[in-house]
Amino acid sequence: MQRVTVSLADRSYDILVGDGLLREAGRHVAAVFSPRAVLVISDEQVAARYLGAVTASLQGAGFSVSTALVPPGEQSKSKDRLFDLYEACFAARLERRSLIVALGGGVVGDLAGYVAASYLRGIPFVQMPTTLLAQVDSSVGGKTGINLPGGKNLVGAFHQPSLVLSDVAALATLDDRQFATGMAEVVKHAMIRDAALFERLQSQAARFASRDVGVMEEAVARNCRIKADVVAADERESGLRAILNYGHTVGHAIESVASYGHYTHGEAVALGMNAEADVARRRGLIDDGTHRRQARLLETFGLPSRLCEPLAVDRMLEAMQHDKKVVGGKVRFVLPEAVGSVRIVDDVTEGELRRALAALQP
Ligand SMILES: NC(=O)c1ccc[n+]([C@@H]2O[C@H](COP(=O)([O-])OP(=O)(O)OC[C@H]3O[C@@H](n4cnc5c(N)ncnc54)[C@H](O)[C@@H]3O)[C@@H](O)[C@H]2O)c1
Ligand SMILES: [Zn+2]
Repeated sequence: MQRVTVSLADRSYDILVGDGLLREAGRHVAAVFSPRAVLVISDEQVAARYLGAVTASLQGAGFSVSTALVPPGEQSKSKDRLFDLYEACFAARLERRSLIVALGGGVVGDLAGYVAASYLRGIPFVQMPTTLLAQVDSSVGGKTGINLPGGKNLVGAFHQPSLVLSDVAALATLDDRQFATGMAEVVKHAMIRDAALFERLQSQAARFASRDVGVMEEAVARNCRIKADVVAADERESGLRAILNYGHTVGHAIESVASYGHYTHGEAVALGMNAEADVARRRGLIDDGTHRRQARLLETFGLPSRLCEPLAVDRMLEAMQHDKKVVGGKVRFVLPEAVGSVRIVDDVTEGELRRALAALQP
């Protein structure tokens, strides 16, 4: 097992990463909280596989456990499910010292985290992320929230968990595209901060692809460390934290322009990293070899480096203008300057973008 401590002044907490942690959840939660009422929030698909073990373990450690389930999928990050969960909190008689556990992927983490941030003006919560994306990305950083019909993550709060338990054994039951989506964020972290991780991903690609618990434990902990360090330096996203958006400026534009469900988030981010690296290459920040190395690594994990069908460049440019990352009318970009290092710029011209987006076309 690996332990990553996230240092945030008065709200430091540990991320534990290991094989079989969900079965031992009670013991680890009891190391942080004395026995009390716990509401475990999960989605139906994750609950079918893992809720029994988590509940039994928490009860074994003396916690009094209630559960509330939502349907799997992004649609559950809605005001209707949020208010259902407030009712569940009330029915479970949660108090301010009670505990919420988020057991599932990023959807459950964001939704249950926001319940914990807002019910009774905030109660503690523990994340038990079960997707690779949630383990390496969404469970670290304290962002919680729901979607509105007009856009994603428009209502939310920063609310840090008291403990994160990442069980890498749970990754075995993810479908391939969902696993690849998490790998896109892993490659992103390597590109922005960690050349050694990038090399390990290349040299041990087969062990990663087979979700070997040893390499995954090591890699998830490493990724949490990278994200936690960036977040600790910039908890409320004023500067440095923006580097975590590498691949996401173009990636979000692809997600919003392509028909819904066409690309997973990770596939869109892979395409975005490819386009943003292309801008960097044309500027002479990186050489052709670095651009190709990134594309090859993404392909190793089943992630695309070209669109699978044409996508209108004008519509992608327009979507970028509407992105939350626009500051004072300028779109901020994160461009690689080497494997393991990026810089933030706001002077990418429309011409540069058009060339990179044209090169993404099939
Ligand atoms: N808070 C943040 O900082 C942050 C960062 C990135 C993404 N997000 C959010 O995360 C969400 C996406 O998260 P996600 O990709 O984990 O999606 P998800 O939570 O929808 O999970 C994907 C699917 O996998 C299933 N699943 C989960 N764990 C499983 C397991 N171990 N075995 C088998 N199936 C399993 C789920 O039931 C679901 O159907 C988005 O809403 C996004 O906005 C938040
Ligand atoms: Zn992402």
